[in-house]
Amino acid sequence: MNAITNDPNRVILFDTTLRDGEQSPGIALNTGEKLEIAQQLARLGVDVIEAGFPIASPGDFEAVQAIARADFADAPGAPPVICGLARAQAPDIERAGEALRDAAADGRARIHTFISTSDIHIEHQMRNTRADVLEGAKAAVAHARSLVDDVEFSPMDATRADAEFTAQVLQIAIDEGATTINVPDTVGYATPDEYAEFLSQLYEFTPGLRDVVLSVHCHDDLGLAVANSLAGLSVGARQIECAVNGIGERAGNASLEEIIMLLETRKDRLGFSTGAATREIARTSRLISRLTGYPVQPNKAIVGRNAFSHESGIHQDGVLKDRSTFEIMDPASIGIDDANQLVLGKHSGRAALKDALEKLGYKLDGQALRQAFDSFKQVADRKKQVTAMDLEALVTDELRAE
Ligand code: KIV
Ligand code: ZN
Repeated sequence: MNAITNDPNRVILFDTTLRDGEQSPGIALNTGEKLEIAQQLARLGVDVIEAGFPIASPGDFEAVQAIARADFADAPGAPPVICGLARAQAPDIERAGEALRDAAADGRARIHTFISTSDIHIEHQMRNTRADVLEGAKAAVAHARSLVDDVEFSPMDATRADAEFTAQVLQIAIDEGATTINVPDTVGYATPDEYAEFLSQLYEFTPGLRDVVLSVHCHDDLGLAVANSLAGLSVGARQIECAVNGIGERAGNASLEEIIMLLETRKDRLGFSTGAATREIARTSRLISRLTGYPVQPNKAIVGRNAFSHESGIHQDGVLKDRSTFEIMDPASIGIDDANQLVLGKHSGRAALKDALEKLGYKLDGQALRQAFDSFKQVADRKKQVTAMDLEALVTDELRAE
């Protein structure tokens, strides 16, 4: 069963940049920035936006509420479902329900509630018992379902938990009305074959699991988050939780752009599809990098500065003859074209700025252009090269100032 599409091979993209991603050390986004990111995620075509953890702080509540109220007119398909995280505790669930109220009125709200099922967490973190976990999961899902129709349940640290006990918890969550079951590899410990086997065991021990969407949520501590997510798809998962530029707790989450382009580029072999507008990938990556202050490593797959550059003579020669010799993706398909390669400096004039901005999709004239030009000169005095990311930053500021 799939709430978003009836196509059995359509993968639901669940973006957690604003929740797990924001849990990266040093990242603190304000509501305006979160709204800007949510709009860009909608343009990219993600299906579900996990907008935050409403009980965590008044700021998180406010941001989730603002995103739940937003109009996503630029989404290429249906507007995204807005999700709020809640521990399996009544005050968390109430707060999430309150923050999501406006999206719930449109049938686009999801509460994501979680509780750990591993004995390590039960004994050392929660200091309770398996019986408490069963009871907590049951009450939390029932409570969430009284507020919204779309409820996701996660057994935290599942991959280090006993499969039979986890399955018992999952069946209770499904009986209480959970519509998505997400299986987190919370500490990024599983290997792909092991994760696939664990999910298969959950299918075997949980009779109701075939009636809901199975989701994967993989952390990258051993660099396996994307590989593990793919392994999950191979045994029946149809939702992937991921974050732009792979940000998130510790080593981060599965990277959204890698997942999208993996499924797109190897559709021939894998047969899955997403609703992503891939040309928005580069712009989304730059926006997240700019607002979080987290640079993208040059050799990062898909969005790194070097992902489409060729250094050796043999490679350069091949690409000049035919790009397919050493490129498996067309950079234009992720939105990298001449506009992104533009580099301006302090000697560039107003016409060059206007042209560069137009290539990036911003049409500025008159006073707005004059202001942008002044800001551009200030940036150019500080930096040798003004890149597409710098230009986007100053235009956004200009437009905000209007
Ligand atoms: O990694 C994790 O287990 C989580 C849960 C809250 C789903 O982020
Ligand atoms: Zn996580």
